[in-house]
Amino acid sequence: MNVSTPGHSGHPQPVGIISPFLKWAGAKTRSMNVLLSCLPSPQAVDCLIEPFAGSTSVFLNTRYRQYVLADSNADLVDTWRHARDTPEELINRLHRLYAGGNCQMAWQRNRLAFNTMPPGPEKSALFIYLNRHGFNGLCRYNQKGQFNVPFGRPAQPYLPAREIRTFARKAARCHVSFFHAGFEETLEAATRGMFAGLRCAIYCDPPYLALSDSASFTTYDGTAFTAEHHRKLATRLRDIHRMTGFPVVVSASDTPASRLIYRDFTLNSLSVNRSVSAAGTGRKAVGELAGCLP
Ligand SMILES: C[S@@+](CC[C@H](N)C(=O)[O-])C[C@H]1O[C@@H](n2cnc3c(N)ncnc32)[C@H](O)[C@@H]1O
Repeated sequence: MNVSTPGHSGHPQPVGIISPFLKWAGAKTRSMNVLLSCLPSPQAVDCLIEPFAGSTSVFLNTRYRQYVLADSNADLVDTWRHARDTPEELINRLHRLYAGGNCQMAWQRNRLAFNTMPPGPEKSALFIYLNRHGFNGLCRYNQKGQFNVPFGRPAQPYLPAREIRTFARKAARCHVSFFHAGFEETLEAATRGMFAGLRCAIYCDPPYLALSDSASFTTYDGTAFTAEHHRKLATRLRDIHRMTGFPVVVSASDTPASRLIYRDFTLNSLSVNRSVSAAGTGRKAVGELAGCLP
């Protein structure tokens, strides 16, 4: 059951946070309640545009009438589509993959199959299998675009049937469009035809800025998301806000570099720590920021 209490922004806050069917680095599940207080209320806007939707945790835990969910990871976007359109078929495929799938040999075989097959329902089922059996739920590709995460030896791999059904039900209840696109393309579309006359809000959760250039974050889709990408994003969001008046919220790691790049935004520091790549020292816990253009 989802009992709600109003957030600061008037956005109803789910008491029980709904989990996505994927484990995803940077998923907003832990910081959802604070984030909801930064997002505009569903009464104030018709549509939420998310150019970096990842595991879709924000979609699952908000109540807008319409959503545009986009991400640059094609396998991820295909998996959203299959989870929405054929959830039971996807779950059946997962049962088959999980049976005898929790060993190194099965992992190698399934990862190879994933890397060599064309997009389709079996590839989407494998994407979830890999996510739940791989090391730390990482999603990482090499330069050739091959998924290269090692086997995670999970004690008891979880089959997220309940979460897939929840996702499909939520998608059936509202109007949601999925796009495989880089953020520039999604933001470009946000200022054109299909959004004319709609009151939209934009929520951006890009890969966090690494603490140093050499520690740049390169997972998710095989390409690094650099300081230059963050600067482009900040400029584009400011322009769109000026042109359309759409409220904009962006999540970032609380570091001097992020504060500089997003200096024109109202910055709220959230009491949530994230681990961010740091050269030489592996990963470091840093705070999280929500930057808003209301
Ligand atoms: C921090 S995660 C988003 C997490 C999401 N808010 C959630 O709750 O799961 C960042 C996402 O950005 C995507 N991404 C990386 N580079 C991108 C780009 N240039 N354009 C669009 N999406 C990108 C990644 O595939 C990843 O899913």
